[in-house]
Amino acid sequence: MSELSLKTIIFPAAGLGTRFLPATKACRKELLPVVDKPLIQYAAEEAVDAGFEQIIFIVRKGEKSIARHFSDVPDLRQKLAKTKTQLEVDALTRTIPSSVECRYVEQSEPLGLGHAVWLARSFIKEEHFAVLLTDDLIDGGLHGGCMTQMMELYKKNKCGAIGVEVVADSETKKYGIVCTEDTSAKVSKIITIVEKPSPEKAPSRLGVVGRYILPTSIMSVIENTEHGVGGEIQLTDAIAATLEEDRIDAYRFDGVRYDCGSKLGHLQANVAYARKNKELGADFSNWLSNEVM
Ligand code: G1P
Repeated sequence: MSELSLKTIIFPAAGLGTRFLPATKACRKELLPVVDKPLIQYAAEEAVDAGFEQIIFIVRKGEKSIARHFSDVPDLRQKLAKTKTQLEVDALTRTIPSSVECRYVEQSEPLGLGHAVWLARSFIKEEHFAVLLTDDLIDGGLHGGCMTQMMELYKKNKCGAIGVEVVADSETKKYGIVCTEDTSAKVSKIITIVEKPSPEKAPSRLGVVGRYILPTSIMSVIENTEHGVGGEIQLTDAIAATLEEDRIDAYRFDGVRYDCGSKLGHLQANVAYARKNKELGADFSNWLSNEVM
């Protein structure tokens, strides 16, 4: 392990997407749009803005549609160029700058988030790497993307970090829950982390959102992690086992998170993003206030 720097981000994208059936029967859930962009593109833009140089997509066996989304389409560009400016064509077709290396790794069995992350191990040469879960769409607004905020934190503290937010009692069962040295601080060292505990067993109400900066040494910890909640190899369990060796902070990010892994959260994201869309925002907001509210 050489440099103390952060260049690689992993996008686990091999889940079954059962909550969105039948929409996800033939279409990956990561490609479901929020207004006019697929979720995974928001993720890619957040990662590129934060300065990542390598994105590793963990995809299902034989899965090609995500790679297709991020590939160049000269024919489409040529067609659009007849009626649109170069800037517009770029905005419509250039989904990831060519300077960013994209790699695709297949997860042949759904063995869990920990296992998905572990599959990327041979591509990580630095002391830390990041993970972004595309279900969690975060609008950082004027504060910048959540990963940009966490990258700033990393530059200062040079240690791991996990994005967290306060969740309701009824929601602890949906998240990893952390206990920190100071639960009300914006940044605080994590003492323990538990995957999807009941409210009675949860060590706090700080829930993990899908933004992680982790020490690369966690890869060998994952190898020895037993199957946990849901019979899967949980990233949370490997993080818990690494906390004695490596400092990982909980970071209460600035911005609004939409749980696009749920139908309600996905609908809320569509409404929020449509309202602030340059092209549609005014008309949509008008319609919303006249027709719906
Ligand atoms: C995963 C993690 C969980 C985290 C959540 C955030 O769960 O295992 O710790 O809080 O993402 O979205 P999943 O939503 O994949 O069940």
